[in-house]
Amino acid sequence: MLNMNLKSKFSALRSYVLLCCFTLISLNVLAGDSISIIPKPLVMHVHNGHFVLNNATIISSNSSDKEVAQSINWFIKQIATSTGYHLSTKRSSKNDINLVLNKRADTSLHDEGYTLKVSSSMVTITANKPAGLFYGLQTLLQLLPPQIASVSEVKNVSWTMPCVDIKDAPRFGWRGLMLDVSRHFFTKQEVEEYIDQMARYKYNILHLHLADDQGWRIEIKSLPELTKIGAWRVKRTGRWGTFLPALAGEPTPDGGFYTQEDMKEIIKYAQDRFISILPEIDVPAHSLALIASYPNLSCTQLPYSVNAGGKGYERNDNVLCVGNDSTYTMLDKIFTEIAALFPFPYIHIGGDEAYKGFWDQCPKCQKLMADEHLKNVDELQSYFVKKVEKIVESKGKKLIGWDEILEGGLAPNATVMSWRGMSGGIAAAKMGHKVVMTPWDYCYLDLYQGEPEGEPPTYGLCRLSDSYNYEPVPDSVNENLILGGQGNLWTESVPNFRHAEYMTWPRAMALAEVYWSAKANKNWSDFVNRLEEQFPRLDAANVKYSRSMYNAIFEPARIKNSDFGVTLTTEVKGLDIYYTFDQTNPDNFSLKFDGKPIQFPVGATQLNVITYRDGKPIGEQINMPKDVLVKRLDEKHHVY
Ligand code: ACM
Ligand code: ZN
Repeated sequence: MLNMNLKSKFSALRSYVLLCCFTLISLNVLAGDSISIIPKPLVMHVHNGHFVLNNATIISSNSSDKEVAQSINWFIKQIATSTGYHLSTKRSSKNDINLVLNKRADTSLHDEGYTLKVSSSMVTITANKPAGLFYGLQTLLQLLPPQIASVSEVKNVSWTMPCVDIKDAPRFGWRGLMLDVSRHFFTKQEVEEYIDQMARYKYNILHLHLADDQGWRIEIKSLPELTKIGAWRVKRTGRWGTFLPALAGEPTPDGGFYTQEDMKEIIKYAQDRFISILPEIDVPAHSLALIASYPNLSCTQLPYSVNAGGKGYERNDNVLCVGNDSTYTMLDKIFTEIAALFPFPYIHIGGDEAYKGFWDQCPKCQKLMADEHLKNVDELQSYFVKKVEKIVESKGKKLIGWDEILEGGLAPNATVMSWRGMSGGIAAAKMGHKVVMTPWDYCYLDLYQGEPEGEPPTYGLCRLSDSYNYEPVPDSVNENLILGGQGNLWTESVPNFRHAEYMTWPRAMALAEVYWSAKANKNWSDFVNRLEEQFPRLDAANVKYSRSMYNAIFEPARIKNSDFGVTLTTEVKGLDIYYTFDQTNPDNFSLKFDGKPIQFPVGATQLNVITYRDGKPIGEQINMPKDVLVKRLDEKHHVY
């Protein structure tokens, strides 16, 4: 599926350029209409009139394809849940949602595109492939009132949708989210819930980070210790990174893993929503759960516990001994079972952040370097990745890894997932390798999404607008080699599923638009308008999300020969910003920020700020200590 998408992607882009001019015009004309689809479709015309969905509405298809039948069942269930209507499948010439699988391909739609025509009597979705019909149904759901996303029946709603003509197709064939299930384990049901949420925004790849220092999460039948020992750790609660290490003999109740049967169910659940699961087994570093289970695999051969989110183990001895034959025997067993379990053509082997100091000290690693004439430990890592690529390819799969796999020389057929910015991806593409772009500063969903003073603790910063404004194809590379991109949710600071949702949404909507929508169709303020119409859908679906885009942003800057001033802004334009310096809670009777930098009065230690729209609070109150702003100043040395 993927390759065909990629081949077709660029001819699609050419036709998009023509279509985009037209789209922008037609959408502007209809700016008053509340149609708010994310990701934004390629072309949309709105007409007078509505289609009314009722208990007599039919859903039918010209195709008996199994995947189409599955999509119909899925849709019937969605509709029944929130409306209570039970759509039948007997074909009719009116009040029918008709799914047409093209007998002769419409080349402009490729594999995942669709057309959606809503008239007052019929809905027709056409596509070349079942995936396109599914995406057409997802768009159709977004045309219905937000209560359609409700998890239980809602009465007294008029289930109407406006008459439209939509033609839509994705910009990229690789549109992923990564969920780290190692740092915190998420149950099968939670992963399936995540898949449902992804499907709404037309994502097609879920990358599961299945192994790291804090837990091994997939049953490998030939290596039972991996899940007997590696999946479990001591229980700690509080601030990740500060936890005490395991005490001698302490029970390890925290964790979990997916049996192969569980994973088959997840894979099927995802397939039914046209999402592929990309498995990642992170080696040679981030391997403490593996080493804790099989201690002979590290250079030091010392006993270790699965890390519970703190210091207390020699942090860097989470690296496999690459001079030890047992390492490759083990990896062969693991990748044999992974390859058999996951239908996706790629296996992710990690490759990131390996501390190479133990290899320098290890007789086995040193002997291997001498035997293979490897000049340094970077070349040793490259030797390892090339050997792992052979193992992966011997199972009929392709290797993908984080951009560190470039160090010491890239394996011949490797695809690179660029995370330390775009440079690794650019270097790989220049060598003719395929690339998936996930630069941390735009795509990492574990970063702060607003002022850290108003957010649960994490690190870095990636605002919604950063994600939205990111462009995954650098000027300097052959764009055919950029398969697409992902948003990555690392979960060190994500101890429960509600918080996983909060960190994901709405940033993953911004990224969905980056990866699906035509570049020429992107517009931040238009996106914000559509996004605000999505929030009631997330509310109806009980999905937690961040509203940090409404919060104040604090920008301190030195004023010459004086103290410093603070400028207050927001990502969303047109908000009113109110503040106090006297530690009280500001409201719309407090001082209003007028655009000129404000200064702390003598003795004041805290600036409290809230945002309003149309006389109502919209952002969260943020209480900013003066010290924090002073520290920021020292970092930036900004002068007005
Ligand atoms: C990574 O964030 N270490 C890939
Ligand atoms: Zn070694």
